[in-house]
Amino acid sequence: MSEPGKPSQDLPTLKWTGEVDGHLELIDQTCLPGDLVIRDCRTVADVEQAICTLVVRGAPAIGIAAAYGVCLGLQAVELPSRAALFAQLDQVISQLAATRPTAVNLTWALERLRQAALALPSASDPQAIRQHLLAEARAIHDEDRRMCHAIGAYGAPLLAGLDGVLTHCNAGGLATAEFGTALAVIFATQRTQPKLRVFVDETRPLLQGSRLTAWELRQQGVDTTVICDSAAAHVMQAGLVQAVVTGADRIAANGDAANKIGTYGLAVAAAAHDIPFYIAAPSSTFDRSLSTGDQIPIEERAAAEVVGGWGRPTAPKDVAVYNPAFDVTPARLIRAIICEQGVIQPVTTAAIEQMFDCFEDI
Ligand code: MRU
Repeated sequence: MSEPGKPSQDLPTLKWTGEVDGHLELIDQTCLPGDLVIRDCRTVADVEQAICTLVVRGAPAIGIAAAYGVCLGLQAVELPSRAALFAQLDQVISQLAATRPTAVNLTWALERLRQAALALPSASDPQAIRQHLLAEARAIHDEDRRMCHAIGAYGAPLLAGLDGVLTHCNAGGLATAEFGTALAVIFATQRTQPKLRVFVDETRPLLQGSRLTAWELRQQGVDTTVICDSAAAHVMQAGLVQAVVTGADRIAANGDAANKIGTYGLAVAAAAHDIPFYIAAPSSTFDRSLSTGDQIPIEERAAAEVVGGWGRPTAPKDVAVYNPAFDVTPARLIRAIICEQGVIQPVTTAAIEQMFDCFEDI
């Protein structure tokens, strides 16, 4: 266990240690903010479990962890032929893809590794393929780092001059390679506006807002105030925030965006108060194969998260519980999407296509 309270920037959320025979180290996010614990993942099953139990969470971080998980899955197995290697690769990719359904960064990263393997000459030996896939996983990790910093730079002007901003769940360094998406915008703004006050929804049921976002913001000296999720509309009505910024787990071709449950309600409340609602997300979070957000799979999680999260029952035994982990905010409620190539505004299919056309030209 490391010392709690160390800046998250100094301690990476994810770290690959060693070369092809190395392993993945993760900050165990279930232990924060009380304890800063590092977990080693040495097998695919370790990574699978870490993703399912939210040891590592947040769309980009899940994708990066899964990419390294593929590398673990190709270690210490006999791969006598190309066919054997691809059979193992398929098996590992399916196992990791089944961990969480909503964040598209997971399947995006896994497909990138599959395509990287397929692109190699058929005569490549297993060790060369292992090295190539580790390089690809590292590239995904590095790219995410760069994307987060670019998102911060593009997003900060949108918060210029504001006194208060509201965020939900955790879209910070813990959810990405570093710096975050929504929190990147806040960190970049706070450099020139140190008085910016950030309201953080606690984010029921698992409290990613109060446990993780408040912890990260405080590490960086940001003026941070935690509120119950149900206080958000009141905070808007009281004029304490002039913008809302969150991350996303999957954005459809038309800009409808899935994010942590409660995000849609925030967007509705923001519209009612004429407050801009922004999504900050890298291109790896877009799923342009889905025309609208109603096609996004929504993860349902265990009832115990809702009725047993406080170490004792908080509802009658055996009561029915519905625990969707995400909801979809329609594009019409999103003022702009901030991504690594710029700000998409208005949020329409055409504007998103245009932004991707620019990416592809680079
Ligand atoms: O269930 P979680 O904690 O993985 O949900 C995470 C979120 O909803 C984040 O806002 C999203 O993944 C964006 S992370 C940059």
